[in-house]
Amino acid sequence: MRVLGIESSCDETAAAVYDGSAGLLSSVVSSQVAIHAGYGGVVPELASREHLKSIVPVVEKALADASSGREGIDAISVTAGPGLIGSLLVGLCFAKSLSFAWGKPIYGADHLESHIYAVFLEHGVDFPYVALLVSGGHTSLFRVAGWGEVRLLGGTLDDAAGEAFDKAAKMMGLGYPGGVVIDRLAKGGDPGRYAFPRARLSADSADFSFSGLKTALRTFLASPEGAAARVEDVAASFQEAIVDVLAAKAVAAAQREAVPRLVLSGGVSANSRLRAQAAERGAAAGVQVYLPSRELCTDNAAMVALLGERRMSAGTFSGPELNAYAASRFSR
Ligand code: KG4
Ligand code: ZN
Repeated sequence: MRVLGIESSCDETAAAVYDGSAGLLSSVVSSQVAIHAGYGGVVPELASREHLKSIVPVVEKALADASSGREGIDAISVTAGPGLIGSLLVGLCFAKSLSFAWGKPIYGADHLESHIYAVFLEHGVDFPYVALLVSGGHTSLFRVAGWGEVRLLGGTLDDAAGEAFDKAAKMMGLGYPGGVVIDRLAKGGDPGRYAFPRARLSADSADFSFSGLKTALRTFLASPEGAAARVEDVAASFQEAIVDVLAAKAVAAAQREAVPRLVLSGGVSANSRLRAQAAERGAAAGVQVYLPSRELCTDNAAMVALLGERRMSAGTFSGPELNAYAASRFSR
């Protein structure tokens, strides 16, 4: 099956074409970062309006890059949720209209599942595996037993890891989004210079909490020591506190589940220190760690097209009642 994927859950308008036998044929991502940067975060109403402007050119480019017209497309896969409802509706309404006009079937992809399975664009992974999903909106651990067989093991009790990175960057005056800036600055800093708190919760907990760390950073920055600190050392120490907990808990979850495979996904898994720590801890524990390339960690439509292709080839389609949803469907 050749599937056109469409993603608009947050601040990226993306389209891609994935073919069940030929693989990924095109992937186009139009980022709105410059529009939201001045506000220090995504402004939902502005995001929806930008998606409206970008959706047609982005889809046209994805089709052109794949040397495909509508005749070459067998089906459409679109992110249905979770995400910003106004943003989701732009992609979803557009995809449903295309599906109706072209007479092609449609699949409503879950954004979290798309991230969790993105690894298959580059690697063959055996089921079951444990997936760590770390993005701007989510920090969760899942057990993945097959296509559509996903069980939540734990998640954040307050902020998502990406949110913690972004808020920290804002407090440090580094702009938005801050994860990638902290990652870069941290390379020139000492991760052991300042001891920021790690919330491990109970020993075998797969849950996370980052709000205490955020408060600790704010208090530190307001102190004389914080005012005199090198920004590189603060970035490295703060990043280490997040990455330490993420990598340790993800590897521990794989061990607890007796699954020797761990897959990283979501924007924060582009973080170089997290990638290194997860690989290191995984190797020590006999857990094989899979790291999608950075552009497949952040939001894209390639993962949406892939998930749709796998599900629709297996006979799972969405009907005309397909609608967008804001909140995660996974609960324990
Ligand atoms: O998956 P994603 O693109 O969008 C969501 O679905 O949220 O993730 C975006 C998040 C942002 O919080 C951003 O700061 C973070 O991923 N991020 C990073 C890095 N690159 C992106 N965080 C830490 N280090 C990075 N290199
Ligand atoms: Zn995402």
